[in-house]
Amino acid sequence: MKRAVLLFLVFTVLVSLCACGSTAPQPAPSQAPVPESTQEPVSPSEEAAGTEKAAKEPEAAEAQEASGMNILVLYFSRTGEQYQVGVIEKGNTAIVAEMIGEATGADLYEILPADDHYPMTYKELTDVALQEQRKGSRPAYAGELPDMSGYDTIFIGAPVWWGDWPMILYTVFESTPLSGKTLIPFSTHAGSGLSGFDRSLAAAYPDCTVAKGLAVAGTDAQNNPDKVQTAVANWLSELGF
Ligand SMILES: Cc1cc2nc3c(=O)[nH]c(=O)nc-3n(C[C@H](O)[C@H](O)[C@H](O)COP(=O)(O)O)c2cc1C
Repeated sequence: MKRAVLLFLVFTVLVSLCACGSTAPQPAPSQAPVPESTQEPVSPSEEAAGTEKAAKEPEAAEAQEASGMNILVLYFSRTGEQYQVGVIEKGNTAIVAEMIGEATGADLYEILPADDHYPMTYKELTDVALQEQRKGSRPAYAGELPDMSGYDTIFIGAPVWWGDWPMILYTVFESTPLSGKTLIPFSTHAGSGLSGFDRSLAAAYPDCTVAKGLAVAGTDAQNNPDKVQTAVANWLSELGF
């Protein structure tokens, strides 16, 4: 656990160094980064759990059909106040998940907490997430995940939280057998990259193939979609999609 705190502290220091010259506040190493927005957060999403199958663009549907693969993009993402992007209405990871869905024709499923206890303000969210990580919590997710037997390939994405997957992903891993499938991790982050998502996914699923993951800066997902679109396209092409 100390390692996670250390990782996050390193991340905050790195981020603060990178932010030199910008107007972003400089996070102190002893605390979670201070959000730059002072706006009121948006209300928590009241959407029911379990995002329905994405309405596929005709080309995307054809892409999936042509590949002969049944692909799912499973992701967790938060709106509200997020690091260096202010108050957002679509989560950084959700943006990347949708790009992957559009490019591959995959179905999308958003993991939502059963009891959404996550604050919509950044500092408070980091506190709750750190407590969950320290306790090894397994927060329940809402609803039922899709029937995984229909999928060969599953992209799994989340924000990096304190140098690791948010704990709710471990709830998913521990309750969802995925033997024999190809799993492809992706993260959004503020400096920590993939942060070992691939290794922890391989540890959770030793009988799956874990393919090369993608790490996207959350600020790019929110503010630089063309750059992210290119990165996603290159990565998918490298993976053979
Ligand atoms: C609780 C919490 C912990 C975070 N920990 C890290 C971290 O350890 N390393 C990092 O690079 N970014 C960290 N971040 C920044 C997020 O990974 C980043 O803002 C991400 O893009 C948010 O994605 P989302 O909008 O899909 O939730 C953290 C953010 C939160 C809210």
